[in-house]
Amino acid sequence: MLEAINLTKRFHQGDIDVTAVERFSHRFKAGITAIVGPSGSGKTTLLNLLAGFDTPTEGEVRVQDGGKEVVLSRLDEGSRAGLRLRLMGFVFQQWNLIPTLTALENVAFPMLLAGHKRKERQERAAFLLAQVGLEKRLKHLPHRLSGGEQQRVAIARALALDPPILFADEPTGNLDSASGERVMELIYSQARKGRTIIVVTHNLELARQADRILRVRDGRLLEEVVQ
Ligand SMILES: Nc1ncnc2c1ncn2[C@@H]1O[C@H](COP(=O)(O)OP(=O)(O)OP(=O)(O)O)[C@@H](O)[C@H]1O
Ligand SMILES: [Mg+2]
Repeated sequence: MLEAINLTKRFHQGDIDVTAVERFSHRFKAGITAIVGPSGSGKTTLLNLLAGFDTPTEGEVRVQDGGKEVVLSRLDEGSRAGLRLRLMGFVFQQWNLIPTLTALENVAFPMLLAGHKRKERQERAAFLLAQVGLEKRLKHLPHRLSGGEQQRVAIARALALDPPILFADEPTGNLDSASGERVMELIYSQARKGRTIIVVTHNLELARQADRILRVRDGRLLEEVVQ
């Protein structure tokens, strides 16, 4: 479904070379995979490569698209964006909602990009917002919502097109523990639908609830713990 093969990413910053991800290989399975590691160990860089926001210096990302296996990292940016829209949802640490759109419009946005009809967009967006407990916040702009509420809108948006793969990069990093737990429950509950969930978290309690934990350090995969 989703596989990293010898994935390497080097950044050149002036005359300094940083290897953020180094020969990372892993075949991601359905269910929840937590990625843990110290700050600067390359977790965000890795997610960006897996989701095709960025391209590797070496190695490749392969993904199953319909019946065929595609080398995501060899596609151009437009094709990667198209594939991401069909196959992937992404929840960022800083929720990244569009500030001028209401909660409903933010959730409907990926469906707009995918060419869905207005009525269908609005119905599904309202349904998803109700699922994350925000049925009374449809018309709110992001700045009128609490951090936990904004993150729940971001989760609803990530699920808008029913993606088989869901990424979350420290989705609870900016939340208090109660809203963090609620957000994580929502993300984890998606695994029951057969999705592949890949979540970066500093919270070891949350990592323990995953099906497997990948420990990374200095861009390398140290070990996989199956729970
Ligand atoms: N665009 C960039 N240009 C140069 N160096 C970068 C860039 N992005 C990341 N790096 C470097 O790559 C390394 C890995 O960064 P990354 O953001 O992936 O770490 P992380 O594990 O997500 O850290 P954190 O837990 O703090 O979010 C860091 O040393 C960082 O400085
Ligand atoms: Mg990070």
